[in-house]
Amino acid sequence: MSERFRVIGGSRLHGQVHVGGAKNSVLKLMASSLLAPGMTTITNVPDILDVEIMSDLLTRLGCTVIHNGSELSISVPQTLLHRADYDLVRKMRASINVLGPLVARVGEAEVALPGGDAIGPRPLDMHIRGLESLGATATIEHGYVVARAPHGLTGAAIVLDFPSVGATENIMTAAVLARGTTTIDNAAREPDIVDLGDFLNSMGAKISGLGTPLITIEGVPTLSPTTHATVPDRILAGTWAFAAVITQGDITILGSNPDHLELPLEKLTSAGAVITSVDGGFRVRMDKRAKAIDISTLPYPGFPTDLQPMAITMNAIAGGNSIVTENVFEGRFMFVNELGRLGAEIHVDGHHASIVGVDQLSGAPVVATDIRAGVGLVLAGLVAEGETIVEDAFHIDRGFPGFAEALQSLGADVTRI
Ligand code: UD1
Repeated sequence: MSERFRVIGGSRLHGQVHVGGAKNSVLKLMASSLLAPGMTTITNVPDILDVEIMSDLLTRLGCTVIHNGSELSISVPQTLLHRADYDLVRKMRASINVLGPLVARVGEAEVALPGGDAIGPRPLDMHIRGLESLGATATIEHGYVVARAPHGLTGAAIVLDFPSVGATENIMTAAVLARGTTTIDNAAREPDIVDLGDFLNSMGAKISGLGTPLITIEGVPTLSPTTHATVPDRILAGTWAFAAVITQGDITILGSNPDHLELPLEKLTSAGAVITSVDGGFRVRMDKRAKAIDISTLPYPGFPTDLQPMAITMNAIAGGNSIVTENVFEGRFMFVNELGRLGAEIHVDGHHASIVGVDQLSGAPVVATDIRAGVGLVLAGLVAEGETIVEDAFHIDRGFPGFAEALQSLGADVTRI
């Protein structure tokens, strides 16, 4: 039987937490190390299952990966294999990030299609069209994306239909070694994209416009290995900020950059929180019931979809009614049914959730459907009367290092069973 979290509600969280490097960045840095033969070192690496899965994938492609605490050394050989099998890709969608680097460096890539998941269908059309614009052939064969560019890639002007994080990354990591200049218009602007671009530039790439909707990449013939620190995880920092507000607690979040959370922190302030900067992070205090706040998820710098479950949990016990609109992933309201088992009053209509704040949730067994939903349910358990069991804790382990231990250190009654 898989592990679960047992949560007894009623504690106000109080104390300090330290946030490490971002899951959504480090996996892309690891995949992009393939672009340069030699030893690349990544620091501020979080201790999560997905890093192990990406290490396995890189090993399968011919690399040697050495993990030492929060440092990862990846030795990339001159000759790489080019196939990422389904048994690994199915465990972690970010495996698709080896596509761009492999096509650029090896001239061919076969990466299993990751398929949909619990937050809805996640197509790859923009990744594939992007690679085709750079001159690769890309087809779907027997459940694999097969991309080939035996004579190399050529720069192109690419306009994305939507500022997709993954498509921007795959195009950027292919275009760095293309002949000529590539532009990506309507590019994603997430801090993870900026981190990846900085990493590539430190390998010798020529990328400008990072953090803006227009990224320009001048191709270079080769890249060299580098050493780079992963950007702090803004989603984990934001999760702790919501945890402070939901439990009417006081949490100082260190190792984080509040500038990456401008809109979420503004929303929490509107809900009644007092947020102050401290050296190396920020502090969130809440001494009353939250006021319900309307929220719409959007690509960065909009409100992150990965914090949407925490926003719904806060509104579920806030004073007043609210609407949370999901604009990024259509299937992301699945966990609302689980929250309903704890007594939340939420009605979902398409991509809108109408929430009537209740005075108190009541503990019950629930199931984590993905990382962020699992974390949202644990936070809900902290303010539910009695015992909440969150099943399928492995989802949480995929992205949230030491979550139970950190909660315990803040005074929560949480155990893994
Ligand atoms: C990444 C993050 C995820 C986060 C998301 C949005 C990782 C490992 N995951 O996911 O945690 O929630 O960004 O911030 O970094 N789309 C298409 N066609 C494509 C590509 C995307 O239709 O070719 C759609 C998706 O289905 C989705 C939307 O675009 O509806 C955004 O997806 P995208 O930004 O690509 O998210 P991911 O990179 O998959």
